[in-house]
Amino acid sequence: MKNILITGGAGFIGSHVVRLFVNRYPDYRIVNLDKLTYAGNLENLKDIENRPNYTFVQGDICDYERMLGLFREYDIDGVIHLAAESHVDRSIRDPFTFARTNVLGTLSLLQAARTHWAGNHENRRFHHVSTDEVYGALTFEETPFRETTKYDPHSPYSASKASSDHFVRAFHDTYGLPTLVTNCSNNYGPCQFPEKLIPLCINNIRTGKPLPVYGKGENVRDWLYVEDHARAIDLIFHQGKTNETYNIGGNNERKNIDLIRIVIKTVDRLLGNPEGTSEKLITYVTDRAGHDLRYAIDSSKLMNELGWRPEVRFEEGIERTARWYLENTRWLENIDSGTYRKYYEEVYGSR
Ligand code: NAD
Ligand code: DAU
Repeated sequence: MKNILITGGAGFIGSHVVRLFVNRYPDYRIVNLDKLTYAGNLENLKDIENRPNYTFVQGDICDYERMLGLFREYDIDGVIHLAAESHVDRSIRDPFTFARTNVLGTLSLLQAARTHWAGNHENRRFHHVSTDEVYGALTFEETPFRETTKYDPHSPYSASKASSDHFVRAFHDTYGLPTLVTNCSNNYGPCQFPEKLIPLCINNIRTGKPLPVYGKGENVRDWLYVEDHARAIDLIFHQGKTNETYNIGGNNERKNIDLIRIVIKTVDRLLGNPEGTSEKLITYVTDRAGHDLRYAIDSSKLMNELGWRPEVRFEEGIERTARWYLENTRWLENIDSGTYRKYYEEVYGSR
């Protein structure tokens, strides 16, 4: 595989995947296709934007003709599909956008791959990046999600991702498309949009604003450092078996309130504040509608078959993440002011 289409590469996880591929595979052409919604930020990729094996294209995955045109123009033979609406709270407010992008957008890409590849599937792959939320919620007693766990999505976001996963598998079963699906737990790290819990807390501690804890803060998530996810995607994309699903998780479950306390401790220390200074910012608020109690992922298939392991310990990952946000306050301020949305015109408009 030489010409790889990465969708959603200007987003949080996508930018880490793009960077890893651009650096690791100088012989590949990496085409980053992104609509640049509110979540897309080309500042995430400043360091690699001029590399000869990297091309950025602004476009909407829902635009089938445009996607087919891209497959033809770049003779795409591998796809890593990350473009999506990703925030659960937004899906509760606006479910249609999630159905459109996550379901119809995925379908449009599948159809473009199928048409362009026209049954010649040798050395071709369509890797769909999905979430553990499709499996629903666990009680505190249940064992972690496995690849065989039945789908039981609860939010409009997870319902749309579940639907897209089914379309991907249907394209394998019906047309023989060489597909892979990965379902990953909660990611954290640099460049995550500050609507998500960890960057929201770091930013709010920095600026002395409340830290909103949904419900009692008892919900559990399984946290994985984003670069470990990107490495897993690389490994599975190259060595995973087609028509298979791989779970990816951090084996690192935390109650939200415990996680927030770790973030407070880390950020206060980095800011030189006495320990406990920002505890007063913790504010319990109305719970998220349909809030899933617990996610936990069993990644033993990926570990046993492909030898992947998470490499970044949680305390180390939180430290790196907090440092990154505190050293890149400009990145946060550009989001607050909306300036980040002009980066595309400034850099690409003049080319
Ligand atoms: P993100 O919201 O940070 O980025 C999404 C990117 O997709 C943005 O750059 C956005 O501009 C782009 N995009 C949105 N709609 C588009 C469209 N119609 N056409 C083209 N581009 C479009 O999301 P993320 O957190 O980086 O998640 C990336 C993928 O990984 C998603 O598919 C998500 O479901 C999945 N995932 C995320 C997590 C997590 O913890 N963040 C965990 C597991 C799986
Ligand atoms: O599990 C994987 C999923 O993780 C991904 O598929 C999603 O794209 C990603 O957004 C994430 O979903 P969550 O809903 O788990 O992430 P979020 O950061 O929004 O919330 C984490 C937990 O913190 C969740 O239990 C809700 C809670 N929360 C969140 C916010 C934003 C709060 O208590 N307060 C908050 O302000």
